[in-house]
Amino acid sequence: MDHTDHVNLLRDGVGGPGGVWADFGAGAGAFTLALADLLGPTAEIIAIDRDADRLRANERALRDRFLRTSVRYVVADFGGPLDLPALDGIVIANALHFAEDQARVLELLHRYLAPGAPLLGVEYNIERSNAAVPYPVPFSRWQALSDGAAFAHTKLLATRPSRFLREIYSAASW
Ligand SMILES: C[S@@+](CC[C@H](N)C(=O)[O-])C[C@H]1O[C@@H](n2cnc3c(N)ncnc32)[C@H](O)[C@@H]1O
Repeated sequence: MDHTDHVNLLRDGVGGPGGVWADFGAGAGAFTLALADLLGPTAEIIAIDRDADRLRANERALRDRFLRTSVRYVVADFGGPLDLPALDGIVIANALHFAEDQARVLELLHRYLAPGAPLLGVEYNIERSNAAVPYPVPFSRWQALSDGAAFAHTKLLATRPSRFLREIYSAASW
């Protein structure tokens, strides 16, 4: 997958430019870059990851390609409560499958969102765990988790074939 694929996975879940968004488990920045592209230079993005080295790589990539976008880097574990402003949108891409207690993570994410704001997830559409994806989140599980965390609507946004694991999908829950 390249930058265009990342943008296309998020595109239909991002209402318009600007706002305060967070990228949970942002890593080296594939979807932070996609958000910067879709939201434009008036947005503020908060990139959260427990791995400081990956966030430094993320910062370098953003500086190279989207210098005008304001990104705040937070080294933290998203499994516990974080002190964040009300968010206009959240992305959690290829990161929820590392959490054993996914229901708790979605409850926390729901709390950070302004009313009606979207939670965008990107995950492998697989049922069986493996070394790279210990707690898979196929779309059926995303739907159940988001219903359980009091999101009112969930929609499958896009899918892409995966060279490694069948298919990647993106979903939005409001
Ligand atoms: C497979 S990478 C995905 C990175 C990026 N979102 C992407 O799709 O390219 C997963 C990232 O989630 C982070 N991560 C996993 N569990 C986390 C947690 N509980 N708190 C914060 N970061 C976490 C890892 O450190 C890693 O950078």
